[in-house]
Amino acid sequence: MFLLKCLPLVALIAAAFSANPGVKIRLTQKGLEYGKQLGMASLLEKLKTAQIPDFSGKERVSPIGKVQYSLTNIHVVNLGLPQSSINLVPGSGVQLSISNAFISLRGNWRVKYLRFIKDSGSLDVNVNGLSISQTIAIKSDATGKPEASSAACSASVSSAKVKFHGGASWLYNLFSKFIDKALRKALEKQMCPLVAKSIADLNPRLKTLNVLAKVDKYAEIEYSMVSSPQISQPAIDLNLKGEFYNIGRHQEAPFPAPAFSLPAQSSNMIYIALSSFTPNSAGFVYNNAGVLSMYVTDDMIPRSSPIRLSTSTFGFFIPQIAQRFPGLMMKMLVKADKNPVVKFQPNVMTVDATATATAYAIQPNGTLSPLFVLNVVSQRARKEKKLAMSEFPQYYLSAKNLSRALDLMVFRHILFCFTVQLSKGYPLPALGKMKLVNTQLQIMQDYLMIGTDVQFTG
Ligand SMILES: *[C@@H]1O[C@H](CO)[C@@H](O)[C@H](O)[C@H]1NC(C)=O
Ligand SMILES: *[C@@H]1O[C@H](CO)[C@@H](O)[C@H](O)[C@H]1NC(C)=O
Repeated sequence: MFLLKCLPLVALIAAAFSANPGVKIRLTQKGLEYGKQLGMASLLEKLKTAQIPDFSGKERVSPIGKVQYSLTNIHVVNLGLPQSSINLVPGSGVQLSISNAFISLRGNWRVKYLRFIKDSGSLDVNVNGLSISQTIAIKSDATGKPEASSAACSASVSSAKVKFHGGASWLYNLFSKFIDKALRKALEKQMCPLVAKSIADLNPRLKTLNVLAKVDKYAEIEYSMVSSPQISQPAIDLNLKGEFYNIGRHQEAPFPAPAFSLPAQSSNMIYIALSSFTPNSAGFVYNNAGVLSMYVTDDMIPRSSPIRLSTSTFGFFIPQIAQRFPGLMMKMLVKADKNPVVKFQPNVMTVDATATATAYAIQPNGTLSPLFVLNVVSQRARKEKKLAMSEFPQYYLSAKNLSRALDLMVFRHILFCFTVQLSKGYPLPALGKMKLVNTQLQIMQDYLMIGTDVQFTG
């Protein structure tokens, strides 16, 4: 809400739509490690409740002959994933490797042999040295949402040992070796499909990612991916559109997004970079919505300022105001008449804007009496300011002094809300249940970059 009230406007030359992203998100190795910790905790939970299919087979065992066996109701009683690592595979995806995992299983057994002998009981299986290496590819789907798929998987189990209880277990334990081997092979075969299923289960959740975030009643921002993620050795880069639109009317901004690339930094988990395209598309949207105006009133001016928005203060510069409207408070309608153009340069954000400021005296009955109109041109708004006064109907005034007064009252306020909005009010992509820590903001050439660590709170 504040953003639109604070933001002035820009009219820009129409240019071809460009596929450069407005927002880039970089996930560093440090971010991946944190993601891995969370992922492993959830994988552990998932595996504990994994459904292990019933298992049956036939073996010839001397001296009994053919033995038919089936293992049912196999479930996990203990599971450990002591070693895991996550690595980026340039150009293809993320590789998760788990090694030395162990699983204890419990279940029931039944055997049939010599045509008429049937026996049953319970069993324990200890699986050791389980290793899985899984590469997950991440792509942009047709709607710009992420899509994960299994790119390569291998699994091995170094040993599976079964122990039968009940019935004639003492006998079967003597012959359990063939079951150990069959079980080990079966587990090796099932691991990759199980992991692939967990990855596939991720997609319905990824589809619910909101790539369109509402900003206020006029605007929404689109965070769909403009291309598939770029995976290189140090990081994953997501290229997002980062464009403001008027709600319900997706008209492209008439200027291109500049190309920009992030520096090789890796001390934070995540880097979010906004190019000037994103705030400039906001300017375009709010200008279209016709809402880039605001009233500046005296209560917005710091208490410590000797300059008040009153006819006595302004009477000092323009004596006629004090004579005709003595002792009244004033208010000023500041209206941007072009889109503001935001530029990012190292350590400096500049806003080039022009606005019309209409000053009013507030009569005791609330009626507003117009006093004067100024055209205000602000270049490099963060650093210096220039005032161009076009229309002062019947008054003489000192441009320099009024410039100073307006500087204090209007621009400081506008820039303050603009900057606050840029850093705070922005709905950043997919930051639902995360808390940002160690956050720092840097202004670089052509973009603004937020480096942050995250903590999941939910
Ligand atoms: C403008 O400000 C200067 C001090 O910076 C002061 O001497 C001068 O009287 C002021 N002019 C008017 C018209 O108020
Ligand atoms: C309010 O007061 C001003 C100045 O005294 C007067 O000109 C105007 O007509 C008044 N308006 C109303 C609605 O009473």
